[in-house]
Amino acid sequence: MGPVILLSKKINFLFAKIKAKVVILTFTVLVIYPDNPIAETMKILILNGPNLNLLGRREKSIYGSRSFEDYFEELEKDFPDMELSHFQSNTEGILIDKLHEVGFSYKGIVLNAGAYTHTSVAMSDAIKAIDTPVVEVHISNVYAREAFRHKSMLAAYCTGSISGFGLDSYRLALEYFMRFKPKQIGFGTQKA
Ligand code: DQA
Repeated sequence: MGPVILLSKKINFLFAKIKAKVVILTFTVLVIYPDNPIAETMKILILNGPNLNLLGRREKSIYGSRSFEDYFEELEKDFPDMELSHFQSNTEGILIDKLHEVGFSYKGIVLNAGAYTHTSVAMSDAIKAIDTPVVEVHISNVYAREAFRHKSMLAAYCTGSISGFGLDSYRLALEYFMRFKPKQIGFGTQKA
């Protein structure tokens, strides 16, 4: 066997060793640190509370004439790197169950709790209990409306609140998760 063939065999062997090491290292990083940027699939839930199933039909001068399903399709197109899902319920307990279900694994929750925002101690406890950061959103500017809408039972346990940008309040919340990739567990909230 000539020296050139021997050298090329040695180089091939070296490359194979390096490749194997890279594969093992990547695998180890993914298993041990599932939170690392390589492993990250941005699972985000948009959770809508009571009466928001009527978007597009309900008080159009306040909430607009577009259905949420229609708007959601646009969001999916505009945030291709996120794994978006949405869920709506008119029932407080079902919303709480959903917070529990995703609140220890998802990267973020965008929550429009509708009128429960102003009344629900149980929902505020649920937000406090879970690890996933929650951003509170409102389609209308709640501070320009009746006084009872100025108080949020949830805001203190959310990362922040967005109100008054129409349906694009949801988009702004997604922008926040996209850009800042907040860590789980009480980042910047009273949960910390
Ligand atoms: C709302 C504002 C709440 O006060 C109201 O009860 C809603 C919708 C909004 O998106 O503007 O149902 O959360």
